[in-house]
Amino acid sequence: MDNWHILETKLDQKNLHSHETVFTIGNGYLGTRGTFEEGFPADQPATLINGLFDDVPIFYSELVNTPNWMDLQILANGHRFNLKDARIKDYQRVLNLRNAEITRWLTWQVPSGGHLRLEFKRFASMADEHVVALLCSVKSVDFSGEVEFRAGLSAFANNEGFLHLDGQDQGEVGNEGAFIQVKTRHTHFVLAEAFNLHLNKGKAHETSYWESLWNPSRILQVKIEPGSEIEIEKIVTIYTSLDVTDPKNSAIHKLEQATNVGYQGLLAASDAAWQKKWLTSNITIEGDDEDDIVVRYALFQLLIAAPSNNDKVSIPAKSLSGFGYRGHVFWDTEIFVLPFFTITQPQIARRLLKYRYHTLPAARRNAKANKYQGAQFAWESASTGEENTPRWVPLPDGTLVRIWTGDIEHHITADVAYAIYQYWRTTGDDDFMRDYGAEIILETARFWNSRVEWVEKNKRFEINDVIGPDEYHEHVDNNAYTNCLSRWNLQIGLEVIHWLEKYSPAKFSELRKILELDPEKLDHWRYVIDNLYLGFDPKTGLFEQFEGFFNLKQIDLKTFEPRTKSMQAIFGIEKNQEYQILKQPDVMMLLYLLPNEYSQDTIKKNFEFYTPLTDLTYGSSLGPPIQSIMATRVGDPKPAYDLFKLSAGTDLDDARGNSADGIHIATNGGLWQSVIFGFGGLEIGPNGPKVKPNLPSHWKRLHFRILFKEKEFEFDIRPSEQQSPKPSLPLLGAIFDLDGVITDTSELHYLAWKRLADEEGIPFTREENEALRGIPRRESLLLILKDRNVSEAQIAEMMARKNKYYVEFISTLTENDILPGAFELLKDLRASGIKIAIGSASKNAGAVIEKLGITSLLDAVADGSSVLNQKPAPDLFVHAANLLGIPAAHGAVFEDADAGIKAARAGGLWSIGIGPQNRLKEAHINFPNLKDMTVKKIIDHLSELKV
Ligand code: BGC
Ligand code: BGC
Repeated sequence: MDNWHILETKLDQKNLHSHETVFTIGNGYLGTRGTFEEGFPADQPATLINGLFDDVPIFYSELVNTPNWMDLQILANGHRFNLKDARIKDYQRVLNLRNAEITRWLTWQVPSGGHLRLEFKRFASMADEHVVALLCSVKSVDFSGEVEFRAGLSAFANNEGFLHLDGQDQGEVGNEGAFIQVKTRHTHFVLAEAFNLHLNKGKAHETSYWESLWNPSRILQVKIEPGSEIEIEKIVTIYTSLDVTDPKNSAIHKLEQATNVGYQGLLAASDAAWQKKWLTSNITIEGDDEDDIVVRYALFQLLIAAPSNNDKVSIPAKSLSGFGYRGHVFWDTEIFVLPFFTITQPQIARRLLKYRYHTLPAARRNAKANKYQGAQFAWESASTGEENTPRWVPLPDGTLVRIWTGDIEHHITADVAYAIYQYWRTTGDDDFMRDYGAEIILETARFWNSRVEWVEKNKRFEINDVIGPDEYHEHVDNNAYTNCLSRWNLQIGLEVIHWLEKYSPAKFSELRKILELDPEKLDHWRYVIDNLYLGFDPKTGLFEQFEGFFNLKQIDLKTFEPRTKSMQAIFGIEKNQEYQILKQPDVMMLLYLLPNEYSQDTIKKNFEFYTPLTDLTYGSSLGPPIQSIMATRVGDPKPAYDLFKLSAGTDLDDARGNSADGIHIATNGGLWQSVIFGFGGLEIGPNGPKVKPNLPSHWKRLHFRILFKEKEFEFDIRPSEQQSPKPSLPLLGAIFDLDGVITDTSELHYLAWKRLADEEGIPFTREENEALRGIPRRESLLLILKDRNVSEAQIAEMMARKNKYYVEFISTLTENDILPGAFELLKDLRASGIKIAIGSASKNAGAVIEKLGITSLLDAVADGSSVLNQKPAPDLFVHAANLLGIPAAHGAVFEDADAGIKAARAGGLWSIGIGPQNRLKEAHINFPNLKDMTVKKIIDHLSELKV
């Protein structure tokens, strides 16, 4: 086994439910808990589909448990296989993190005699999110008789006993399949699943369809002898009315396609999609295999939780892996999970943020109902963004507890704005900011402007009666985290207004009207910014977490160790509030999010003060990873590593005893942050990323990649380079324009155009020819013709004539026509393992290359006939990168024309301008020509670049 597998070697009923969570698979559209195909007494099978909510008492709404697609019963000579009673040996279950396939092996001693070796495999396709599949093989060791498979889909799926589904329709599909259609009881969403049960190996002597009500099933009976093998596959397709208008037909149609491909083919496609994901997101830690696996597992959980096609959903606090928090979305997504996506897969981050845009109307209603302005995001958000936090929750003994978070944990509103700003600054996605982000940031700023209150006796603005990140204290005044982040929200509100005025005056005036952003209102924002109480005492350098915190009773948490529950569980909710005990970082959370606003001294003093007061072991699991990062920032490597280990065990070791409820997705996001921002010391400033590593002493290497403004940076940190290694750029491909870069055919073009122009009696100079660089033939001709009146037929004829002259000139080219330095650079690129393509708008590129004698140095040629849209459209270069089999972000384009530089940029490639900077202003870097250019020079220049 390598560090890409999660292994379970024995079945331990103690871990049954937490391992159902650990062995969850998914694809962002759905998540399926790791229960067994055949079931187990009191198991919690669940397949949750993101966005498929239904109403429920107390919790308002919850993600609906859908029919268990994995259901598969196996009977051998009439004995039903079930791990609870079965005599088994050689049990193993493995989750392959590379492609999210789970395999389970075991040998079953059939009660009536003989042994069967069973193997189960399953996956949720990452290539097509509506497809899930399982495979089961049964080998007879010494068993003879009949093996029966029963596979079905049942509408009686429930959420811990609560039923959400009513059956609507069911029936057969072809000779091997069946479908079921159900409807959610309150929200009336329709869901259809179709499946096919197919025998791959062995011969069925009996097949049948059971039309049992709301549980259609397929049966296969097969005879087996010692040494022989049976294999079946169950392929399932799933659609809801949230995706398509006719889920039943979509499921049946997709099933036909999927069954044609079969389990192995579907897995191969999913595998390829996974490989792409890992290419940008993987982290390698050398020196500690356990750490390497645990971090990879966290990444895996993040990847299977992320919606790939839907911007109306987000990632719930327990992802799609359990019933905890009912599928509701918290600040966990924006603050803990989102950074991973922002810098490895920004398209996903964008979608997650668009979910908040989608809930903006509800956030506005929420603010209004509470007599505030702007938008107030729900503490617990579901499909529309209405507040979904339960108001009362029963304790195990039946007493009801009033939950205040939904009423007063207001910092979520600033957290959403924070995430948008970070996303924008890191990706440079101005369009997102213009179209969605700005409106949210301005609406949240308006919220805070109305949420603050002027307290005359203190002559300052205050924010009273809130819960901060530390939920152990309720109804507190002037929580430093909330106050500082809301002030920051107002500040960036002003920054965004300033930016929008310039970047998109139209959008600015639209928003100004809707949001009533007149100058007096903005003056009030400034007044609040200057006069909001922040709780910082310059004398001690400490923030007071909230007013009166310093007067609370002090207690030494160490005297309670070892313990197995939270301090709140020990003291009870009310009594716990009397103490200086934090559920999770609060002031430290603030210092983490806004590092540039506070001095190192402030960070250190507050770290020293608040760390011993924080219930890191059994308070919130969101605490340890952030506290770990802050420990690295104050130069405390040992606790940083211990805290990392504490977060690492949260789900795989069920360290808090509640993993059965679902994955702690924020902790996984936090774990990733603690590796990258803590140990890696990554900082992303306006000029790009850099690292100041703090590796744990026994780590030998930390390797990761990130994206900053569409460019990929690779960090490979070794202990000896702890100082400040530079990012290296993984340059995998070079794409050359021909004309003016490798050879000067522009002269030949000029001669051909000139001959044509002379024949037509049109004046045409060398100077005018300059404007034709990189411009396709037709557009060039139109420029030469200016406003002369010519028919389409004449244009066609002239183009053909010019081309004829040009081809004649080309035939005179030889190796001597290669520009100085080009040949050497091509050879150096090849020697460095960098692939080379030509990306030229010319339709004669092939002929030119041939004449120049450089064909053997090239891996691919993309010419003018390869794509429809010419430069400055990115198509040609993107096509060339595809031909080379490299991601665009790893390719560099060498261009002498502005249109080509624009095309490279638009395609997300590096652009290297060959020619004067004033002509090629937008190029990432410039060289006058290819003379003396080497791969090393190029990479060094690009690496130092301020992107
Ligand atoms: C959490 C709150 C949440 C509440 C109700 C508590 O355990 O700490 O953030 O709102 O449960 O779901
Ligand atoms: C934490 C919150 C968190 C919630 C959901 C609570 O226990 O205190 O910060 O948002 O759980 O994970």
